[in-house]
Amino acid sequence: MCGIFGCVGLDESVKAVLSGLRRLEYRGYDSAGVCTFSNDKIIFEKQVGKISTLDEATEKKGMKGNKLALAHTRWATHGKPTKENAHPHLDEKNTLALVHNGIIENHEVLRRDLKAKGVKFLSDTDSEVIAHLIAKDFEEDLLGAVQRSLPLLEGSFAIGVIHEKEPNTIIAFCKDAPLAVGMNEGVTYLSSDPNAFPSEVKNVVFLSNGEIARLQAGVLELFDGDLTPIQRESLIIERHDQVFSKGDYEHYTLKEIDEQPMAIRNALFNRTHYDFGTATLEGLNLSIHELLEVERVLILGCGTSYHAGIIGAMMIEELARVPTQIEIASEYRYSNPIVLPGTLVIAISQSGETADTVAAVRELKTKGAPVLWIGNVQGSTLAREADGALFLRAGPEIGVCSTKAFTNQVVVLSLFALMMGRMRHLSRDEGKAFLDCLMRLPDEVQTILDRKGDIAKLAKKYAKYDNFFFLGRRYMYPVSLEAALKLKEISYINANGYPAGELKHGPIALINESCPTVAFTTNQTTFPKMKSNLQEVKARHGLVLAVSSVDHRALDGVADDLIQVPQTIDPLASVLASVAGQLLAYYIALERGANIDQPRNLAKAVTVE
Ligand code: M6R
Repeated sequence: MCGIFGCVGLDESVKAVLSGLRRLEYRGYDSAGVCTFSNDKIIFEKQVGKISTLDEATEKKGMKGNKLALAHTRWATHGKPTKENAHPHLDEKNTLALVHNGIIENHEVLRRDLKAKGVKFLSDTDSEVIAHLIAKDFEEDLLGAVQRSLPLLEGSFAIGVIHEKEPNTIIAFCKDAPLAVGMNEGVTYLSSDPNAFPSEVKNVVFLSNGEIARLQAGVLELFDGDLTPIQRESLIIERHDQVFSKGDYEHYTLKEIDEQPMAIRNALFNRTHYDFGTATLEGLNLSIHELLEVERVLILGCGTSYHAGIIGAMMIEELARVPTQIEIASEYRYSNPIVLPGTLVIAISQSGETADTVAAVRELKTKGAPVLWIGNVQGSTLAREADGALFLRAGPEIGVCSTKAFTNQVVVLSLFALMMGRMRHLSRDEGKAFLDCLMRLPDEVQTILDRKGDIAKLAKKYAKYDNFFFLGRRYMYPVSLEAALKLKEISYINANGYPAGELKHGPIALINESCPTVAFTTNQTTFPKMKSNLQEVKARHGLVLAVSSVDHRALDGVADDLIQVPQTIDPLASVLASVAGQLLAYYIALERGANIDQPRNLAKAVTVE
């Protein structure tokens, strides 16, 4: 994972790279570092913790950066989050500094060889190996040294390197890890994500796999692995001046939960065709004929996106009667997938950068399947590599815990399912009835948000427990998985999402008075069964907090506490129930004093396997 940001050609380059780095903090935030030149020597600073700590340290040192700076924010893979393991990594004489994103799979062998040659290592990282390798190979130029070292490295990675002999140059390389170069008025920027460039940078060049770049002030040269120059037109990327501000909120996470009504309206805007009871989706890049020829759908995702995918799969089967398989990308990528003709792949990824999802997509593309990406970040790897894209339009999601992106994923998937259904057996009236419910969703979400004080009160009661079950059936099963993930992620409580009917096949052994159950009961077709399952919990002295859309008397005797949500059709009830789950997780985490926006050990985009 990790984020790389560099710039050449700016006087106060350290400030500039730290500001870019802040926008990459979603890629990791356990330590950070920066290097630049002073009197033709490399100087650097590293700090454990957030970029703000690094900022203070460079400020204190008066480290301004002379035309060039290269910075890194880390998410630990090899070695603990310590100052020694933070980037940049330098060679023994401090002549070269390197920042690295990704994993060097053969680092142990390389380290052994280097140690045998007398090299002393200062860190436990795989990254330091690259710094020593390149430094050892440096003769006259950095480009040549990098190029000669690359064939020794195995894995997926991106690097940025500087050398004291070339104080006006950054050399960059990437293989299965993103790197972009942006240019504006004599300044050249390097970043793991083009969205981190200053807003005036509109022209962007993406490095392709195996390409080496030489960046100098206002100049970019690209080379292939043999150092043959490559010509590449820059792309003009759409820049949204995104507001990264919490406003009056204590946490981005709550702000983003509260933004959901607006985000859903954005997701629906111009995508519904009420008179025809259907959806019109731009960016599919599939003709009506091709859509009609889709015989099966395969959905891929990780974490929250996988949970949205389960709901999407159920909706596509229910509305369009198209068989739909849902797979965890990190497992699927190694399965040598059987891709039958007529398969449409939907890859769900908020960031568009999740390494496992990207790898699974690449595998499926080599098998000839068309891939549609459902995601949020323009210019991301999947935005560029998928055949079609459906944007979530959720706005930037800064909290590591995915909230509004999840609900918009479900909404966009529901539009897709509706459109596919209308192209098959679904009648216009059925389509209109579905749209009626969809259009009511933002107001219904607002109703839950307006009553969040009640959930905050319940959180006070439930925050003391260390183990939870989250149960649901049909659409409420993925909702349970998602709500349990939210609680685990931001409050560090052990929470199990489970299909309620499966409880009796083993996990019921864990139910007792100190393990509460959060029960999502708003799937109408399975309500009576769900109620019986909860009675089984009560019979074992389990505490039950039910998320319900029915008259509270219907749950008398089985629910100790209730969170009331509006009633809607089963597929869309998943959105409403999830909002309740998000609020519960948020307020419990708040009670427990957790770091809600940036939970320990996590990163917003998981760019390593
Ligand atoms: O960017 P993606 O949607 O591909 O991210 C996938 C997961 O890493 C992500 O959803 C993760 O599970 C969330 N932090 C959960 O809140």
